[in-house]
Amino acid sequence: KKVVLAYSGGLDTSVIVPWLKENYGCEVVCFCSNVGQGDEDLTKLEKKAINSGASQLICHDLREELASDYIFPMLKAGAMYEHKYMLGTSVARPLIAKHLVEVAHEVGADAVAHGATGKGNDQVRFELTVMALDPRLKIIAPWREWDIRSREDAIAYAAKHNVPVTATIKSIYSRDSNLWHISHEGGILEDPWNEPEESMYQISTSPESAPDEPVYVEIEFETGNPVAVNGEKLSPAKIIEVLNAIGGAHGIGRADLVENRLVGMKSHGVYETPGGTILLFAHRELESLVLDGQTLHYKEMMAIKYAELTYNGLWFTPLHEALDAFVNSTQGPVTGTVRLKLYKGNIISAGRKSPFSLYREDFATFGQEDVYDQSDAEGFIHLFGLSLKVRALNGLPVSGL
Ligand code: ARG
Ligand code: SIN
Repeated sequence: KKVVLAYSGGLDTSVIVPWLKENYGCEVVCFCSNVGQGDEDLTKLEKKAINSGASQLICHDLREELASDYIFPMLKAGAMYEHKYMLGTSVARPLIAKHLVEVAHEVGADAVAHGATGKGNDQVRFELTVMALDPRLKIIAPWREWDIRSREDAIAYAAKHNVPVTATIKSIYSRDSNLWHISHEGGILEDPWNEPEESMYQISTSPESAPDEPVYVEIEFETGNPVAVNGEKLSPAKIIEVLNAIGGAHGIGRADLVENRLVGMKSHGVYETPGGTILLFAHRELESLVLDGQTLHYKEMMAIKYAELTYNGLWFTPLHEALDAFVNSTQGPVTGTVRLKLYKGNIISAGRKSPFSLYREDFATFGQEDVYDQSDAEGFIHLFGLSLKVRALNGLPVSGL
C-alpha cells in the first residue's frame, strides 16, 4: 500500500506523514509543487520529508502551467468571486490535485492524501479533481479523521514521532500563497469588525506608503492573453511576477471580504493580488473597445458562473469546458495594448488601442449620416418603448411613483 501526500513541508503536512504510516500502515510518497509560493529550498524540503518518514519527495514546477492553463483562462472569463476575490487559491488546487494524481500513477500508489481541513473549500477542490481524474484512487483527509485539534497537539504528535519541526514562530494567520496571490485568514481576522494590521500584508505596500509619483505600465494582449509588459515579451508566469512587483509597490490589489464558503459557513479573508488586479482591469479595458455590447454583457453574466465554478472546485467538468469554449470564441479580437497609471492603490486608465477596435470616432461624433441617421432614432425609440406605452394606456401604475 502506497499513498501520495500533497506536501508543503509545514507542520500539518509533516505530521501527516507519520500519521498515515501509523494509521494506514502504508508507504508515504510526498509530492510538492512549486506554484510560485516562493519558500522552497528543494534539498531542505527533501531532507525534511525523508526525516518525517516519507520514502521520497517528488517535486513539480507548475508555475507556467498555472499561469497559462489555469490563471489566464480565468482572467479571460473575467472571473471574480463575490465581487472581490480573485480566486488565487481556488484556481491552483485543481492543478496541484491533477499532478498529485499523475504522481500517484507514476509511483503505483492506490491512495492520495491532503492536509486541507474538514471545514474549508480546499478539501472539496482537491477531492473533486481526484474523483474526476481517477475515481479509483482512495482519498485520505487526515484532518477529518484524527484528533489533532490545535497547533500544540500537532507539535506534540511531531515530537512523539521524531518529526523535525522548524522553529519558526508560526504566524497566527492561515495563509496560502502562489504566483497569483497570497491569502490571509484566521487570527484577528476572525472578527470581521477588525481592520487588518499592516504587518499582515506580505506582497503589497499600503496605499499610504506607496510612492508619491505614479507609475505607468503598458500591457499587451493577444487573443485575450497578456503577452508583454512595457514592450517586453514575457512568459505568462513572468508577466504575473513583474506586475506583482510593480503593483505591490504601488499598493494595488488588496481585497478584504466576508465570503461564502461552499460548505456553508461564512469566513473573513484578506487577499493580495497586485498583478492579477492590474491584469483583470487591463483585460476589461481592452474588451470594452473590441467586444460588441451584447457579447460583453452576456459574458459578464457568465463570469459570475465561472467564478462560482472555480471557487467550488468544479474545474474538471463539462460545464467548465463549455464556458471556456464560449469565452475563447469571444477573445479573437482581444488583441491590443492598454496603458494604466498606478497611483497609491488606484488603477487609472491612461489609454487603450487595438487593431480590432469597434470604437469609431467618426461614428460617435457628427456627420456620417449614411451610417448613423439621427432620424432613425425616433422610430427605434417608439418601438423600444412600445410596451411601456401600452401599459400606461391600460392605466397600469408605474411602480416607484
Ligand atoms: N478562502 C479562500 C478560498 O477558499 C482561500 C483559502 C486559503 N486556503 C488555505 N489553505 N489557507 O479559496
Ligand atoms: C482549510 O480549511 O484547509 C483552508 C481553508 C479553506 O479550504 O477554505
